[in-house]
Amino acid sequence: MERTFAIIKPDAVKNGVTGQILARIEQQGFRIVAMRLQHLSRSDAAGFYHVHREKPFFGGLTDFMSSAPCVLLCLEAPDAIRAWRALMGATNPANAEPGTMRKDFGASIDNNATHGSDAPETAAFELSYFFRGMELA
Ligand code: CMP
Repeated sequence: MERTFAIIKPDAVKNGVTGQILARIEQQGFRIVAMRLQHLSRSDAAGFYHVHREKPFFGGLTDFMSSAPCVLLCLEAPDAIRAWRALMGATNPANAEPGTMRKDFGASIDNNATHGSDAPETAAFELSYFFRGMELA
């Protein structure tokens, strides 16, 4: 078993598709280990996305991620990191396969509905950034 960190982003929560995304997560065999609705501050978002701080899209990304509540998740499954990224689809919804989260629920590379960790080290950082140990027990 492996764990990954996922976000249902503000666009998806505002569009009222949180339930549909959670249903797909469970239908695909992930166990929801931890889950919380949270309106991030700009600095919460900046710390989370610190690896992108030099990128031109960083300001827009932190504005967007702090614009409305999002859903923070710890998901567990065999090969969870890869499996969740496959279910999300390409970062840009325009390039994502039909049936993926980003194709079905995302509108643009900025408003792309979901986030997922890209490697075990990233998952460890991202899970510990938002969840305490006892929430992941
Ligand atoms: P996410 O997987 O949450 O990781 C960083 C986010 O930055 C990404 O999804 C996109 O929503 C956003 N982003 C905006 N522009 C770009 C870009 N050119 N390349 C990658 N990510 C981008």
